[in-house]
Amino acid sequence: MKIFIDSAEVDEIKKYSGIIDGVTTNPTLLRIAVEKRKEVKLKDYIAEICEIAGKGRPVSLEVASVLPEKMISEAEYLYRNFNGIAGNVVVKIPISVGSFGSSIDGLKVIKEISGKGIPVNATLIMTPSQAFLAAKAGASYVSPFVGRVDDYIRKKLGISFGKEDYYDSSAVQEYKKLKLSEAKMIEDAFKLYDLEGNSGVLSGVDLVEKIKRSFENYGIRTEIIAASIRNVRQVYQIMIVGPQIVTLPAYVLEDMIKHPKTEEGVKIFYEDAEKSGYRELFEG
Ligand code: G3P
Repeated sequence: MKIFIDSAEVDEIKKYSGIIDGVTTNPTLLRIAVEKRKEVKLKDYIAEICEIAGKGRPVSLEVASVLPEKMISEAEYLYRNFNGIAGNVVVKIPISVGSFGSSIDGLKVIKEISGKGIPVNATLIMTPSQAFLAAKAGASYVSPFVGRVDDYIRKKLGISFGKEDYYDSSAVQEYKKLKLSEAKMIEDAFKLYDLEGNSGVLSGVDLVEKIKRSFENYGIRTEIIAASIRNVRQVYQIMIVGPQIVTLPAYVLEDMIKHPKTEEGVKIFYEDAEKSGYRELFEG
């Protein structure tokens, strides 16, 4: 599984270069990054991201508009202006522009842009059917939003949560079994399985699994980027499901490395290397 960094912050991308296999940005991440470096020109800043990522490490850059003609010209602009730097630009296009326009507009743009040979990352994927349509339209990547699907489901279930909290969907399934014999059953079952508009998806990880299985059924080669990841437990579950790529915020990458027993072990070895004179061996 490849690991991309989900960040538009040059310093973070630099820090992890050599470790990461690509970069995903979006307008929100760019806003956060640029607010920190006010003097910077956005065009130069994006160019820097592409350069740091380097050849062979895709950088997803998103269109900014919602009207099809504009999305197409923005996708072409991004590719024309930034792909020359390291040949790594992928244009991110929302699968559907929903209330901003016709819901099918995103799909049409994906088809048109992919048809021009520009790699597309279909973003804001929340259901297996969206992923399937994006792949059929020619997208090179689909980005299911794991954390946001969890948010959506937890909210529907009336569970209160913080953005980075792990959502244990297996516990929710277990809960459903426990409640089956009770009077609340119909209401609970409805809440759990008729998650309106979400195709019965039970969690963000479940979404990735359903997309992966459906792609395998049809030999679809579009790569899956598990996105909107908020914590390490989600990463472990994603590793078991096995999409080609996961994109992670820097703090999740950091958390993947840390363990108190590792830190304790390093400290003990360091001290014993001193006490035993072992470290002196290397000093001349
Ligand atoms: O890759 C998509 C990501 O940036 C969205 O993450 O945590 O805002 O849902 P989040």
